[in-house]
Amino acid sequence: MEKVKMILDCDTGHDDAIALMVAARHPQIDLLGVTVVAGNQVLEKTLPNTLSVCQHLNLDVPVYGGMSKPMVRDQITAGDIHGKSGLDGPVFEPLVREAEKKHAVNFIIDTLMESDGDITLVPVGPLTNIAMAIRLQPAITKKIRRIVLMGGAVGLGNCTPAAEFNIYADPEAAHVVLTSGVPIVMMPLDLTNTALADMKIIERMEAIGNRAGKLFGDIMRFTLKSQALNGLSAGPVHDVTAVTYLVVPEIYHTKDMHVDVELDKGLGYGRTICDVNDRYHAEKNVTVGLSLDLDKFWDLVEETLRRHE
Ligand code: BDR
Ligand code: CA
Repeated sequence: MEKVKMILDCDTGHDDAIALMVAARHPQIDLLGVTVVAGNQVLEKTLPNTLSVCQHLNLDVPVYGGMSKPMVRDQITAGDIHGKSGLDGPVFEPLVREAEKKHAVNFIIDTLMESDGDITLVPVGPLTNIAMAIRLQPAITKKIRRIVLMGGAVGLGNCTPAAEFNIYADPEAAHVVLTSGVPIVMMPLDLTNTALADMKIIERMEAIGNRAGKLFGDIMRFTLKSQALNGLSAGPVHDVTAVTYLVVPEIYHTKDMHVDVELDKGLGYGRTICDVNDRYHAEKNVTVGLSLDLDKFWDLVEETLRRHE
């Protein structure tokens, strides 16, 4: 089977780091580059976090720094979940790996324009880099094979009662992406909140005995600590579900529907409106993930982590 060419756009972040581990080593994925955006923390933190993961696991993939601020709204971060550094928990060696000189938005545009239209974008943070690329070079929309993103919710949000973090952090960027005409697959909170790592999963990954398994443990043990404050004993690996969709779409149950984002700055700001029952009779612009086979999902994560050094 031909490898899936992808660019990972992330705001590393705990689950972003695991998504990167899977994308970098899955045998059916050709990871062309990693573009970084502000989100879980400011770019001055999400970029070094991404580089630290690459350095620690010896991942030979170019990393590009991108947008440090949302398109319109004031910046928010998720320090309450991901800590002061954006990736609290793991301890990394002093950072020597450097980001590429090119801006992430230019890397996305140039790579797509030079391609045969066979590249999938996988954004797992706020959609600022992707929206900026679309606005700067609209012709890329014809070159993107599809966008498989983590973000939004069919039901309740996690950042506000209405909105999920990635969309709430840059709703205007989400609007640009959702109205771009590019085929979109969306992994909403309703699905990603079921991909929970508990102690059993953590110990299973650590038992692999390599750096990736240990890093998975260090990451998720921190997440578990913050979840414990809310009385929970497992933590979600949201972003990983977007990467694994690329290689095992058959383990997902999905539905095509119209999805829009609320841009009025009231209580619903940043909410994804998912027309599950086709009330608007509007164009079905998004394939929304509704559930996934969790046993197969964790098997795939484990198999992929085993491929690391
Ligand atoms: C999303 O927000 C971030 O905190 C996570 O990395 C994930 O991308 C979940 O709402
Ligand atoms: Ca993320």
